[in-house]
Amino acid sequence: MKICRTVEEMRAVVNEWRACGLKIGLVPTMGYLHAGHISLVKIARKNADRVVLSLFVNPTQFGPTEDLDKYPRDFERDRQACEENGVDAIFAPTPAVMYDEDFSTWVKEESLSQVMCGVTRPIHFRGVCTVCLKLFNITRADVAVFGRKDAQQALIIERMVRDLNVPIKIITAPLVREEDGLALSSRNRYLSEDEHRRALSLSQGLFAAEKAFANGERNAAALIALVENSVSANGGKIDYVVVNARNTLRPLETIDRPALLAAAVYFGTTRLIDNVFLG
Ligand code: PAF
Repeated sequence: MKICRTVEEMRAVVNEWRACGLKIGLVPTMGYLHAGHISLVKIARKNADRVVLSLFVNPTQFGPTEDLDKYPRDFERDRQACEENGVDAIFAPTPAVMYDEDFSTWVKEESLSQVMCGVTRPIHFRGVCTVCLKLFNITRADVAVFGRKDAQQALIIERMVRDLNVPIKIITAPLVREEDGLALSSRNRYLSEDEHRRALSLSQGLFAAEKAFANGERNAAALIALVENSVSANGGKIDYVVVNARNTLRPLETIDRPALLAAAVYFGTTRLIDNVFLG
C-alpha cells in the first residue's frame, strides 16, 4: 500500500495506474476509520481496479467554534485498517499541502446547501465541495464513494459534479449502524456512556417514524414529532428534524414523493446526524 503525503506523490501513483488503463476509486474521509468507512472501501473495490482513501481533516469545512482541534486523529490505526481492507493508496496531506497561504478559489453550491446542516453550519458545504473537487482532481478518480449518513452532503456532491461536468461517478452507499442502532460516526467517540445510551433515542425515533410511514402516515409534522419527542424525552437538544423531498431537499407537508426524514441533534456537546428514506 502506498502512502502519499503530497499532491506530486499522489499524482505519480495515479498517473502510473491510469497509463495501465486501471480504473480508480476514491473514498474521501477525515480519518478515524470505522466500519462505515470500510463499507465504502468495499464498494469502491467493486467499482474500480485501484482504491485510494484520503485521510484529511479538512479545516475549511469547520466553523470557528466547531470541533476541528479535537476531531479524532490516529494515522497508525487508520493505516492498519486500510492495509487490512485492501486499500491501494492513502492520500494523507497536511492542510498546508491542500491550501496555499493565499488560497482564494471556492466551490459554492447555492441551493441544496441552504437547508438542514447548511443553516447551522453556513460555511460547511463550501469547504466540503472545495476539498472534494480538489481530491477528485488530485486522484483523477473515476468513481468516488460517499456514505448516506451524510445524505445532504452526498446530494450536494452529486449536484456539483453534474453542474461542473466533473468526469467522475458518485456512488452513495447505505448507512451503517452500530448493533444498538446508532449511526456510525467518528464523532460517536465523544459520547459518554450515558450520552451514547440516550443518543439511541435518535435512531429509535427515526425507526418509529419509518414504521408509522409504512402504516400509512403521510403527514410530515406527525413523523417529525415522533423523532423530536423521542430525542427531547432523553435530554437531547434538537438542531433540526425535517421531512424534505429527496432530490430537491424542499420541505414537504404531505409525503407524496420519495422523502428524506433527517435530523441533527446534540447530546452534550456532540452533534449527531441521522436519517431514513421514506418511500
Ligand atoms: O464526510 C466527510 O468525512 C467529509 O465531509 C469529506 C467528504 C471527507 C470531505 O472532507
